[in-house]
Amino acid sequence: MRIPFIAGNWKMYKDMAQARGFALKFKTLYHGTDVKTAIFAPYPQLALLVEEFKGTGIGVGAQNVHFEKEGAFTGEVSIPMLEELGVDYCLVGHSERRQYFGETDETVNLKLKALLQSSILPLVCVGENLSEREAGKEKDIVSGQIKAAFSGIAGEDAEKVTVAYEPVWAIGTGKTATAQQAQDMCECIRQTLAAMYDEETADKIIIQYGGSVKPDNASEIMDMPEIDGALVGGASLDPLKFIEIVNF
Ligand code: 13P
Repeated sequence: MRIPFIAGNWKMYKDMAQARGFALKFKTLYHGTDVKTAIFAPYPQLALLVEEFKGTGIGVGAQNVHFEKEGAFTGEVSIPMLEELGVDYCLVGHSERRQYFGETDETVNLKLKALLQSSILPLVCVGENLSEREAGKEKDIVSGQIKAAFSGIAGEDAEKVTVAYEPVWAIGTGKTATAQQAQDMCECIRQTLAAMYDEETADKIIIQYGGSVKPDNASEIMDMPEIDGALVGGASLDPLKFIEIVNF
């Protein structure tokens, strides 16, 4: 049984006061029983959120991390540093990191492997861009990203990874993939994982959809059998909208 997992990705939004305001409101609204949730916040807000969400069941995640434990890597943050803060999750390979900051399939794989040696659970993002979809190559692109991300990772570790399918053309555009398009790709991702591991392992992995998820389309997306959750950008900035999605 896969427990639904609805996560919010704040990207580069919210100052301290806004993050605190969100946390104070959201924890009064969330009565987590059958849905897991987490907020992926900018680094400066992580400690505050860990403190505010203590004992609530609401998870806290970082949006990126370096794969080395320490070193001369100016501007980077390590996994032990995040562990020290009490962070539960970390995003890997978000399309904005791939597009603007040189994240590659190789660094995604190194980050996944390093996180799986730690107490922090990885959430890896995959997705095709518009020209790849228009060329009919979207399944090849996404299954290639999955194979590269999980390369050299054992089945018992793979089960701990959450996958988010985020078609780049649906991010921040208001243009959601149809529930059927999202379902088809999540099914393709699960088949790719089943071919790499086995059906039992693939059936345990949580696969989210992300890209313009809003309160009014969340339940249709979550009704799809291969979609186990959502990674929400814009609509996760407002606690009232985000709780509506969590309570799909
Ligand atoms: P939006 O929900 O704003 O489209 O963002 C999706 C996303 O990139 C989440 O990681």
